[in-house]
Amino acid sequence: MSTNLYGEIIAILDFGSQYNQLIARRVRENHVYCRLLPFDISPSKLLSLNPKGIILSGGPANVYEKSAPLPDPGIFELGIPILGICYGMQVMGYLLGGEVTPTPKREYGSRKLFVDKDEDLFYGLGSRLTVWMSHEDQLSKLPPGFEVIAHTESCPLASIRDKKRRFYGVQFHPEVVHTHKGKQILQNFLFKICGCSGEWTMSSFIDYSLSWIRKKVGKARVICALSGGVDSSVTATLVSKAIGNRLECIFVDNGLLREKEAEEVRRTFSDHLHLNVHYVDAADRFLRRLRGVSDPEKKRKIIGEEFIEVFEEKARELGKIDFLAQGTLYPDVIESTSAKGGPSSTIKSHHNVGGLPRKMHFKLIEPLRDLFKDEVRALGRQLGLPERIVNRQPFPGPGLAVRIVGEVTKERLDILRQADLRVQEEMEKYEGYRDIWQSFAVLLPIKSVGVMGDERTYEYTVAIRAVTSLDGMTADWAKLPYDLLERISQRIINEVKGVNRVVYDISSKPPSTIEWE
Ligand code: XMP
Repeated sequence: MSTNLYGEIIAILDFGSQYNQLIARRVRENHVYCRLLPFDISPSKLLSLNPKGIILSGGPANVYEKSAPLPDPGIFELGIPILGICYGMQVMGYLLGGEVTPTPKREYGSRKLFVDKDEDLFYGLGSRLTVWMSHEDQLSKLPPGFEVIAHTESCPLASIRDKKRRFYGVQFHPEVVHTHKGKQILQNFLFKICGCSGEWTMSSFIDYSLSWIRKKVGKARVICALSGGVDSSVTATLVSKAIGNRLECIFVDNGLLREKEAEEVRRTFSDHLHLNVHYVDAADRFLRRLRGVSDPEKKRKIIGEEFIEVFEEKARELGKIDFLAQGTLYPDVIESTSAKGGPSSTIKSHHNVGGLPRKMHFKLIEPLRDLFKDEVRALGRQLGLPERIVNRQPFPGPGLAVRIVGEVTKERLDILRQADLRVQEEMEKYEGYRDIWQSFAVLLPIKSVGVMGDERTYEYTVAIRAVTSLDGMTADWAKLPYDLLERISQRIINEVKGVNRVVYDISSKPPSTIEWE
């Protein structure tokens, strides 16, 4: 998508900091559209986006290293305001004639910042702030034209400016919550220094997306694999709003879904939202291929392959279709750019089963590729999707197959579905539910002895997994109240035939993973 159609934009040059996405989110929270761009983008390309301001992000490098990521110095000639954060400030100082030196000891944590000039960047924030530092080097000599506007005890040049050129630098991280009033510092940059108006909203995004989709698709037809998850649901709804019944959605029931899930997706999308949904009941096919297989990677592979086969068969039946709509999100786009050799190095190792191979002969449209997950949820709400869909916990493509340790059989699936339903019902009543990233049941193929009435039992064990997480990359086991765990356990043991023991998984990721397989 070409960006300047959105109106005003802030360009964030990515030097590889772990906080980069946070900077972008903070900017967007102020209704200013922004994009993370490669640190070495050419000045002419940058200018063609017509940004109101440029942010140079932090990063792990040292400016003097041979391989240090440096921007094209031409970006300092564009007449556009710049804010350098941490490494971004050092790189600006270094390229404009200042000096950067290592600090005697890595500085990490909260520091008191003394504001020397409570104007522009620090306007209205008082003379003392608590800020978050995380750096090894710091600027030791000002570049010509700059002055100090704030300092800390150990960092005399904690913030600098060249008021004439509208260049600003902060050694600390205004984007993290530990920097008090960091939000206002960024707002001062966006509104006072860059003159942004803050008019980027979800409804302006929808207007823009609808015309973009219509223009791109023309009179052609689009296909979409609907899973019932937030991303594919929002994608399908948006595309359908743009081109109506020229969108064909395929929903594959692989027999590995949760209780009532297939029915709910069908009801929501066909009946309420009036989308063209082709429901394919492929449960038997998947189960047949999974028979006798207990290796987790083999299971994933089979499910992935079978999904593509089913999807292709159905797509062929539907006749000529040119486009495939996919719910790719912004973090996936950033991650795949980084994986191609950018300075940050988070790479997801997941084989996403819902992902279809590029060799399929469709042209791709990815209308959510500029959005973060919380923005997709907001978009879903605006498009009228029910809260249940908008707030859905992530559910893995291979479904319950990775929540049954070992072989997947119909009997085991039925038991897990019933146990999982009890977990879902009790969790949804819990007041802290919104803070839980995922909560579900796992069926362990071990049987143990129990006693029910006067009878000895010998039945399966169910593990409960509940985690908090920001993005699924790391996770903590959720500290659920004992009485909630007790209710879940009692309900499963009393109501689900085949289970006589429930345990709670208290492992975090890493070193464990969220799913058991
Ligand atoms: P792990 O188990 O690796 O999972 O800690 C991290 C997140 O990814 C989800 N997950 C998947 N999602 N296809 C998906 O679409 C998959 O194959 C898959 N495997 C795991 C998992 O539910 C968690 O949110």
